[in-house]
Amino acid sequence: MDERPIGIFDSGLGGLTAAGELARLLPSEHIIYFGDTGRVPYGSRSKETILKYANQDVAFLKSFDLKAIVIACGTVSTVAIEQLKMQNDLPIVGVVEPAAMMAAKVTQNGKVGLIGTSASVNSGAYEKVIASVSLDINVTAQACPLLVPLIEAGRVHEGDCVTETVLSEYLEPMKKAQVDTLVLGCTHYPLLKGMIAKQMGDHVTLIDTGEECAKHVAILLKEQDLLTSHTQTEGKRQYFVSDAPEGFVRTASFFLGEQIEDAVERVDIDTYQFD
Ligand code: DGL
Repeated sequence: MDERPIGIFDSGLGGLTAAGELARLLPSEHIIYFGDTGRVPYGSRSKETILKYANQDVAFLKSFDLKAIVIACGTVSTVAIEQLKMQNDLPIVGVVEPAAMMAAKVTQNGKVGLIGTSASVNSGAYEKVIASVSLDINVTAQACPLLVPLIEAGRVHEGDCVTETVLSEYLEPMKKAQVDTLVLGCTHYPLLKGMIAKQMGDHVTLIDTGEECAKHVAILLKEQDLLTSHTQTEGKRQYFVSDAPEGFVRTASFFLGEQIEDAVERVDIDTYQFD
């Protein structure tokens, strides 16, 4: 048993899709969320910058005594996870492996699609995991740099013609490749699930990276006997952001599917350095 909190971070709000699922699976756990809302998006930045930001995010979370850290960000998971694991002595879980394994499991025709940020798609990380399961699975990948800014701006409602037009261009190669499974390789994208499902059709299974990651974390903590013993009480939720908390509170409800009642605090993330 372990009563310490679980730390979760993302470049912004997207990681809340993983945090919400984790809270649903493990309601008694204390969860501390950090969203780097002042520096989002990460996905179009260089590897060096993403690594620097990820190190600072982890340094902030480690100012709490945590039992595990969840990288609820496709970009950081694809670019920085190995380094973060090497530099830190607590369990660190990313979104790539759980989502890629699930995609390899559910595809029937061996044609998997991947949409993600430029950094995630360029990393080849999903392809590597899928190839470790089967060399017969073909992955068609498409970088979607405009989606995170649109989602952070709240342009997530069906009928939003800007988002629908941008999506249809990004999804065209997936349709051409006749994928039967599509990995939403960025934790922001589940907010567009309805629109993506409509454009891809019912025959395509959508893999939600945040959801798969949360399921994996729940199994891991159970296996390692790291779950809280306070199973009768609701776990505490704490939210930290690097920009104005008001904007976060407003948009976070879309991601969590409920209003945030808990206080949101602002953090000066630049003061946290990896040592
Ligand atoms: N949620 C992040 C991800 O999963 C968004 C990346 C970004 O900030 O560009 O990749």
